[in-house]
Amino acid sequence: MKFFIDTGDINEIRELCATGMVDGVTTNPSLVASSGRDFISLIREITEITPGPVSAEVLATDTVTMLKEAEVLSKIASNVCIKLPLTVDGLRACKQLSSQGIKTNVTLCFSPLQALLAAKAGATYVSPFVGRLDDIGELGSDLIRHIINVYDNYPELQTQVLAASIRSPQHVLEAAYAGAHVATIPPKILKQMYNHPLTDKGLANFMADWAKTGQKLL
Ligand code: E4P
Repeated sequence: MKFFIDTGDINEIRELCATGMVDGVTTNPSLVASSGRDFISLIREITEITPGPVSAEVLATDTVTMLKEAEVLSKIASNVCIKLPLTVDGLRACKQLSSQGIKTNVTLCFSPLQALLAAKAGATYVSPFVGRLDDIGELGSDLIRHIINVYDNYPELQTQVLAASIRSPQHVLEAAYAGAHVATIPPKILKQMYNHPLTDKGLANFMADWAKTGQKLL
């Protein structure tokens, strides 16, 4: 399973990419806004930190303008992945970009049928939003399982399922159980994934026992 980080915070991206756990980065207009950064220069800087795909979202809602924006974004670096909304216009743009060999991430997916449409449009990734479904009382993790089930019926579909809107380590685990290819994870959640109280307790015990030996390795 691949891990992307879902943030526009360049310091977090640097820190987490250095751990070797990060395979790519996703952004969205809200994350760019909260970074306070210029969009193009932010995406350029992220592409310089990671060789993995960096999702940059179009701002237009019509296909023609989306394609113009995609051209601008694609020129930033070869690892830019164009993020498009799951709308008729977004999927028309997706189909065109896919036919040109440009990587795409179709976002705001809330149903297996939408995911099937994204795959037929040749999307590289489809992003089902787990947390936002939980927010309205639906089981976000069910969506991931249902999409994987549908895709498994049609091996010719190449689209990867990118679990998004992750709000907890449990969401990552559920996405992994369901077989999601990727999860895009907020930095805070990725850091929480390392933690287990028995790891801390066990390490403290080992260190205490080692100190009793009076030995040094280095
Ligand atoms: C990622 O591609 C999405 O834009 C992001 O995961 C949305 O997360 P949120 O629902 O927490 O805003």
